[in-house]
Amino acid sequence: AGRPGLFKARLTAQSATARFVADRDTPILAYNGTSPGPLIEAFEGDRVEITFANRIGEQSTIHWHGMPVPADQDGNPMDPVAAGADRIYAFDLPEGSAGSYWYHPHPHGRTAEQVYRGLAGAFVVKAKADPVPAAYGDTVLMFTDLRLAADGSMPDSTMNDQMNGRVGDHVLVNGQKNPKLTVAMGAKRRLRLYNATNARFLRLVFANAVMTVIGSDGGLLEKPVATDEILLSPAERVELVVAFERPGAATLTTLDYDRGWMGPGRPADAGQTLLTVDVSDAPAEAMPPLPERLRSIARLAAPTVSRRLVFTETMAMNATGMEMGFLINGKAFDMGRVDIVAKAGEPELWEIVNQADMDHPFHLHGTQFQVVERERGGRVSKPPYLAWKDTVNVARGETVRLVMRQERPGSRMYHCHILEHEQLGMMGIVDVQ
Ligand code: C2O
Ligand code: CU
Ligand code: CU
Repeated sequence: AGRPGLFKARLTAQSATARFVADRDTPILAYNGTSPGPLIEAFEGDRVEITFANRIGEQSTIHWHGMPVPADQDGNPMDPVAAGADRIYAFDLPEGSAGSYWYHPHPHGRTAEQVYRGLAGAFVVKAKADPVPAAYGDTVLMFTDLRLAADGSMPDSTMNDQMNGRVGDHVLVNGQKNPKLTVAMGAKRRLRLYNATNARFLRLVFANAVMTVIGSDGGLLEKPVATDEILLSPAERVELVVAFERPGAATLTTLDYDRGWMGPGRPADAGQTLLTVDVSDAPAEAMPPLPERLRSIARLAAPTVSRRLVFTETMAMNATGMEMGFLINGKAFDMGRVDIVAKAGEPELWEIVNQADMDHPFHLHGTQFQVVERERGGRVSKPPYLAWKDTVNVARGETVRLVMRQERPGSRMYHCHILEHEQLGMMGIVDVQ
């Protein structure tokens, strides 16, 4: 394994059905008939060529969330694939790009619906030399959430969904409700957690198991970090090593997280069991230890340019009622407008200022960044470890400062990854020259 080469695949987006409740078929959208779509695994150094066949009856794209792909291969809303059409996405996976990425549609004004109806999948880039022991396995857990009407269909989004982002009634893991895993006592597992929901914040604890963070959106950390809980905002990922030391059930469950809900209908966040691991009392074979160093991450150079992006929400009355707007620097997204011009290779500081009443997870295409500090109520804090990120939560009233160096020219999107907010305007374009 791990021989660099050509990685070819075909992804067909089409209508399908799924069984979430007995005796009811739910119409969904699926890549190659499954939701989430097929797990794609390729290696650093590979050349990737993926043929996308759009059979969903409306325009779509495939966006390679977090991946260092050329701008014209990144499935931007400016490059739609018409209903019935095919296109090939081609890109190289550079050295050092190993990490937990994903793919999903990004067509203008239709992203939120195509994603909650089922179009999303994981794209794992594997390292040629991986410091994490192979004995831990490597398991993707992709979280989505589901809301069903009485007839088993997925209802259309409401006004409330537009405002807060669509949150389903329960969370699915790889398309299933509370799936089971079985491990032997003393086993360790490498788990890649993906928040692929439109708008649900996941604050997670693992009862009867010990979690260690080993990676973020853009691959491994420098060294493992022990943790008791994880907060994943929409689109974020985390790589964990989980140790199952005592027999019995180990459960991954949600805790309450207040992300600033507007109006009625705040979903119950706490107490959902997402995954149950049965730990048998037969001891596992001795597991090799996790190395103390995983890799080194170069701290980005002092920025020569700094930018400020201010997130606000507006409300206006019109003929049909209250209309929400989600703005960056006072503007709603315009596909024909370049908001920022950046120079390739130049280190930049971006200050994301959330002056709104809800948390908004900030995401940038095409490059990974490093969070330098957060500020809220006059208090400044540094992140506990250096990490590559492409999505970071900016809590209401908070300012997050991050540094980046965009290497590849072209137009890139940045936006709130609550997909309904992205559609209602909270998105911009940076043109890298
Ligand atoms: Cu998952 Cu524009 O991104
Ligand atoms: Cu993205
Ligand atoms: Cu938002």
